[in-house]
Amino acid sequence: MKKKVLAAFLCAAMTASLFAGCGNDNSGSDSNGSTGNDASSTEAENSGGGDEQEASSGTTANKDKPLVWFNRQPSNSSTGELDMAALSFNDNTYYVGFDANQGAELQGTMIKEYIEKNIDSIDRNGDGVIGYVLAIGDIGHNDSIARTRGVRKEMGTAVEADGDINSDPVGTNTDGSASAVQDGTIEVGGKTYTVRELASQEMKNSAGATWDAATAGNAIGTWSSSFGDQIDIIASNNDGMGMSMFNAWSKDNKVPTFGYDANSDAVAAIAEGYGGTISQHADVQAYLTLRVLRNALDGVDVDTGIGTADDAGNVLSDDVYKYNADERSYYALNVAVVGDNYQDFTDSTKIYDPVSSQLDEGSHARKKVWLDIYNASDNFLSSTYQPLLEAYDDILNLDIDYIGGDGQTESNIVNRLGNPGQYDAFAINMVKTDNAASYTSLLSQ
Ligand code: BGC
Repeated sequence: MKKKVLAAFLCAAMTASLFAGCGNDNSGSDSNGSTGNDASSTEAENSGGGDEQEASSGTTANKDKPLVWFNRQPSNSSTGELDMAALSFNDNTYYVGFDANQGAELQGTMIKEYIEKNIDSIDRNGDGVIGYVLAIGDIGHNDSIARTRGVRKEMGTAVEADGDINSDPVGTNTDGSASAVQDGTIEVGGKTYTVRELASQEMKNSAGATWDAATAGNAIGTWSSSFGDQIDIIASNNDGMGMSMFNAWSKDNKVPTFGYDANSDAVAAIAEGYGGTISQHADVQAYLTLRVLRNALDGVDVDTGIGTADDAGNVLSDDVYKYNADERSYYALNVAVVGDNYQDFTDSTKIYDPVSSQLDEGSHARKKVWLDIYNASDNFLSSTYQPLLEAYDDILNLDIDYIGGDGQTESNIVNRLGNPGQYDAFAINMVKTDNAASYTSLLSQ
């Protein structure tokens, strides 16, 4: 039987941190514009405490149990340098995410191609300047940094800093004088247009939650009232923030918004003028997250059911993921979702066909896993990633305790790993990528 986090606990935590809205309240007052299908609103059965039977791995020390980091790669949040101590905590430790640079380039290219295709209507006030605003998720998160860089690179607005593209928010830059970006140019049909990042900001709310959809909705209100028809494009580091800006302003004003994640609501909105999004192949990532644990628990090669078919026929082809052995990291590959292919992506919670065959419980005995989602209200993780995990945990015979964090403090999550001895394996989504030691120190005790 699957166990879920106690909704009441989360509700209390959210109230304490001034978040309104618990359970299924989708009023939009939660931090990330959650669609409500998250750890806080799934059936409540278990608090993640130590009240159940012991792990079946018996005498295995916690420090030797399989561990997977996912979605937030252990790394220095200022420099991006990988935390190899955390990534190689034991022989069965891995990271699962997606190729942030490949996806970021795709997002930039998707926007550029849209401009080229719609050049006749894109410059709304006809001043020869194509203006865009940019919603930044978390200035210390690799994915967010890569996406900001990818957009700036393709728009020609990038400026170098310390050997890489500057990813700092500019605040407001209507006159083109900001130092973190420059004016770019784009040539279409023999005419040269200026491209300007009119404004950008990290969407962090007053309680500290990042990638905050409500903050993005407010920001577009401010930006549009101060420089309305100068805004020709909205770029967002993710769909949660993108959809909030789309619903608040860009849909009515017919300004294309581009996001990332291919959440179902964003894909559906493409029919109503949302410019496009990027699928980070969450279906493949969720599978890999649990698959590396399953393989370690079965004592088989880590490639089983990944690059090599397992006994049920599950296997991934190398056009959907890559493995970097030095980084001990699996990266899913990204796909652009736009007007002409969005119909293929309408359900972001659909599992990936090539890895959808049930494992036999006789040869893959049920195991207990502790798994946390850093922020139970994160739009992508709650509406796309967790439903996929819940589908794969059945297929892979894993009993998972899903713990939903508050998105702000590591202690809110770590405190709920009171009895690691109860579990056979761990799947961790940190609040801050620098904080791996908060978890590994607990497992080392
Ligand atoms: C997603 C964001 C999400 C973040 C959480 C990113 O990969 O694109 O939507 O908020 O992960 O860590």
